[in-house]
Amino acid sequence: MSFLGAGRKVESAVFGRGVSGFRPKVPTSPQRLEAKAAKAMSAQARAYIMGGAGTESTVAANRAAFDRVEILPAMLRDTTGADMSTEVFGTALDSPLLVAPIGAAGLVRNRPDIAVCEAAASLGVPYIFSSQGSDPMERVAGAMGDAPRWFQLYWSKDLELVRSFVARAEAIGAGAIVLTADTTQLGWRPRDLDLGYLPFTRGIGIAQYTSDRRFSELVAERMAASSDDTDVDHSPVPTPTAIATLLRIARNHPGRFVENLRSPVPRAAVQTFLDVYSNPALSWDHVEQLRGMTTLPVVVKGILTPGDAKQAFAAGADAVMVSNHGGRQVDGAIGSLDALREIRREIAREHTLILDSGIRSGADVFKAIACGADAVTIGRPHVYGLAIDGARGVESVLRNIIAELDLTMSLSGVSSLAEIDSTMVRVRG
Ligand code: FNR
Ligand code: LAC
Repeated sequence: MSFLGAGRKVESAVFGRGVSGFRPKVPTSPQRLEAKAAKAMSAQARAYIMGGAGTESTVAANRAAFDRVEILPAMLRDTTGADMSTEVFGTALDSPLLVAPIGAAGLVRNRPDIAVCEAAASLGVPYIFSSQGSDPMERVAGAMGDAPRWFQLYWSKDLELVRSFVARAEAIGAGAIVLTADTTQLGWRPRDLDLGYLPFTRGIGIAQYTSDRRFSELVAERMAASSDDTDVDHSPVPTPTAIATLLRIARNHPGRFVENLRSPVPRAAVQTFLDVYSNPALSWDHVEQLRGMTTLPVVVKGILTPGDAKQAFAAGADAVMVSNHGGRQVDGAIGSLDALREIRREIAREHTLILDSGIRSGADVFKAIACGADAVTIGRPHVYGLAIDGARGVESVLRNIIAELDLTMSLSGVSSLAEIDSTMVRVRG
């Protein structure tokens, strides 16, 4: 699909419908998008999705970094067609956008990953499935035809489970494995802590695990050993919330609800997940191990310094995703766009860098490319679209960002992504 003239097309469609009094259901302004989505979500979903680590200074730093970069538009360059197509790992992409992996989107609606995949597929934007997905990867892949998909890997404590995830990702035609390096444990997130709520304890966001044969073995082993050393106490005081939790776990587990209610397996699955999912022992050796485990391109996600970027490429990574996980892990960490500029200064152009964290608009994408990114990922905004209007909402969010990128390119005097270099921006302060 070509996005040539996407900006004008979207504007014409919106203003055309406006003649009859219709306004876009999904706001085009990033701030209004966030505000409308916040209203559409439960308190728990709002906390988990919108929240960040500590004082949320890293969330703010991501935006501050974009605000400091100023575009220097060039005039009178004949930009009747701005071409935003590009190539990542030799794969042609119609735009430099990818959909970031987001876990536990089941907080905002049922079958969330299916909705996101439909939207991404309709635009040809690669969708990075999360290890913490809410729909099994096979089902999501089956709903998107040949459309591009990648798989994000959380390296759990069980190596066989890791191998199983990688093998399943290969089998569903993933174009790359994205190893997330920055979340070997969940960051300190006061919004979730103060509600005492984590979606996984409700069986939300563990669908890749409960659909996995190796994971089922781990659940059986755990039940046989009947140990109870999980991080979260799952023998709770029998309050109404505890009962609601059991119902929710039964509903989220594969199979029939009534049988799940009677069976100890769904609860044991949640406990097993909580035992194995985080792995603070992750090290550079694991990147090399992953390199040897698959022939797919490997992307290391969560890199913020030039030294780590160099080490990732030395360990065999095909790309680095510069990211602070949307400010959810280390409070006070560097804004991702600032990190990208520093990393690109030391990493040659032929090495692929993908920017993640804080991207909200087409202008942001332009700035990211100018600062050395080859592509960018869209995180929270696509979940906001999902919360407002399901698959259509996700599609609107992605399409609006593409439309604004098209206009920003044309209005800044560039006809292709290759022309967007560091001379097109300056950095304030
Ligand atoms: C995430 N992120 C994430 N990353 C990952 O590698 N695996 C995952 O399962 C998740 N899950 C997840 C859930 C939620 C609710 C959020 C908000 C984020 C991080 C995600 O991929 C991306 O790095 C951030 O969303 C980028 O920040 P912005 O642009 O969304 O603010
Ligand atoms: C998070 C994990 C799932 O950010 O990546 O909550």
